[in-house]
Order: sequence, then structure tokens, then C-alpha cells
Amino acid sequence: MKALVATEYQPLDRLTLADVPTPSAGPGQVVLKVEAAALNPLDLMLVTGAAKELYPAEHPLVVGMDVAGTVAEVGPGVTGYTLGDRVLGFVGQAGSVAEYTVATAGPRLAHRPDGLDGVRAAAIPESGMTAVCLLRAVGLRAGESVLVIGATGGIGLYAVQLAHALGARVVATATEADASYVRELGAAETVDYRAADVVEETLRRVPDGVDVVVDLVNRGEGLAGSARAALPGGRLVSPLFGPAALDRGVTPVYIGSFDPEPGDLEDLARRAADGSLRVEIGARYPFTDAVRAVADFAGKHIRGKVVVTVP
Ligand SMILES: NC(=O)c1ccc[n+]([C@@H]2O[C@H](COP(=O)([O-])OP(=O)(O)OC[C@H]3O[C@@H](n4cnc5c(N)ncnc54)[C@H](OP(=O)(O)O)[C@@H]3O)[C@@H](O)[C@H]2O)c1
Repeated sequence: MKALVATEYQPLDRLTLADVPTPSAGPGQVVLKVEAAALNPLDLMLVTGAAKELYPAEHPLVVGMDVAGTVAEVGPGVTGYTLGDRVLGFVGQAGSVAEYTVATAGPRLAHRPDGLDGVRAAAIPESGMTAVCLLRAVGLRAGESVLVIGATGGIGLYAVQLAHALGARVVATATEADASYVRELGAAETVDYRAADVVEETLRRVPDGVDVVVDLVNRGEGLAGSARAALPGGRLVSPLFGPAALDRGVTPVYIGSFDPEPGDLEDLARRAADGSLRVEIGARYPFTDAVRAVADFAGKHIRGKVVVTVP
């Protein structure tokens, strides 16, 4: 089968569409005929080796982890999936920018409800489940205020909507061009991260500080800076690591990898299908343009997800 492949740690522009063996389903797995695949920052790091200590890649590496497709083979011990089922999921290093991929039946795989097309389905798994896990880990509650830094990216657009749906008051970072869209998704206020200091501007709007900071951009000591937007005794949550302790009694919560509960992905898919969760497709590319999709995802400001469709 054809797949978007890295043969070693390499620059993004040396990716190629190449032949690799079609995967088969092991115990607990299903093979999927891919309809669409979405990109995430980790895909880029796996290709270049930027995070190889934490996430070593096996070569040849097939790019992509998010997928929508149909079940083409069911492995031993799998229940609940049959040939032809339409699904969405996160496949890790199995790789999804390919004609076929293999997924483990479990919380990272779900049936696709009617009304959810493949392109939007592929744009949900990693970002959507990470947003759910971040808000759950930090225990965001109705009536609390939350600052989402990185709100116009993959995770951020889901985090804004899910926080708003929980009944939180959302302050979100967005450029002027994206501000009205982010407010439509439920943000009460937006802060332009290119024009202002996000923490200072947030404190100007919420002088005591927000209950919760969700930071999808900064890492390390940068998170200590973001924590200044939280009220004393508030919380900060990040998918990137930072200081073990923060000033003014702000509690840091870090999630190293997302760990969804059964039903999380089904719930996101159901909300997307019924229209209560907007899925923003920033750009879509045919399979033959997959190398350009990766380059654009890496180099351009694209609001929402980048999706590659596979014939
Ligand atoms: N630990 C885990 O389980 C896990 C899971 C998923 C993701 N992650 C990590 O989480 C991070 C976010 O992921 P993602 O998929 O949401 O990334 P993404 O789609 O690239 O989104 C990042 C967003 O942040 C914006 N941004 C950049 N600098 C900013 C700033 N200074 N202030 C406010 N916004 C800014 C970007 O806008 P521009 O386009 O203008 O730069 C973009 O919209 C990545 O580092 C990813 O590797 C971790």
C-alpha cells in the first residue's frame, strides 16, 4: 500500500509517498481502510526526531495518528466491530496517512455516528480527547473562569467549546482574524497573543485572576509565567511539562499522554454529529499532496485541523 513515510529522522520536506507492507490485525486490533487522516504536532516531532528521547520512532515511520475509515479486517478477540463499520480513532505510530492502518479496539477507537463525515471525524481523536482529559484532570467546574492559551489550535478549539459547555467563563487567545470565530464557540473574551502580553491582558480583564489556566503553548519555566494569570490557589493544566510547584499556591497539573475513559471518543463524535461541537477544518489536502499538508501544518498559521483525504 502507499503511505506517507519517513525512512529515518529527517527534514519534513524529505517525506515521500512510498510503498510499505499493508498492516494486518493482531489480537485486539482492527485494520482500517483510511478515508481521512489529521495531523498533530507530535507527527512532526516523530519525523524530525525533535522528541526522540521521549518518543522514539520506528522506521520506516508512517506519518499521522488520527484517522477516520472503515473496518477492513477484525483481529482475534475483538468484539463490537465488524467489517465495514465506519470508525474514527487514534492509532499512534501505526500511521494514518496511508491507504490502510491498524487500530486497537479500546477507548481510542469509536464508531462514527451518522451525520459525521470522514474529514471531520479524523479531526477529532487526539485533539478532542486531549481537551477532555485536560479539563477532567484540572477539575474545571461550572461557574469557574478559565484562560485557554493556544485556543485556535487543534486542542484549543475543543477546549474552548468543552469548557463553555461545562458552564465556565472562557477567556481565549486568538488573533484579531480568529477572535469572532472563537467567541462563536463560546469564549466570553479573546486576547490577541500577537498584539498583547496574554497574562497582563487577562489580568486587566479579570483582575483577581482566573480559576484555571489551560496552557497549550508554553512549557518549562514559561508555564510559571502563565500561572500568574491564575488567582491565588488556582490551577494550571498543560500537556507539556513545567515546574513541580508554582507561586501563590497555584496547583500545576501536567498530563504526559492523554488517557481517555471509555466513551470519551464516542461522546465527542456524537456531539460533532449533532452539531453541539464544532470541528474546524483549517485545511484539507488530497493524499497526493500529503507532503505539502505536513509543510503547511508546520509552517503556517492554520486555525483548526489539517486533514489529508485518502482515495
Ligand atoms: N501530552 C499530550 O498528551 C499531548 C497531546 C496532544 C498535544 N500535545 C502538545 O500540546 C501542544 C498543543 O497541541 P495542538 O495540537 O493544539 O497544537 P496546534 O494545533 O499546533 O495549536 C497550537 C496553537 O497555539 C497557537 N499559539 C502559538 N503561540 C501562541 C502564543 N504565544 N499564545 C497563544 N497561542 C499561541 C498557535 O497559533 P499560530 O498558528 O499563530 O502559531 C496554534 O493555534 C503541542 O505542543 C502538542 O505537542 C500534548
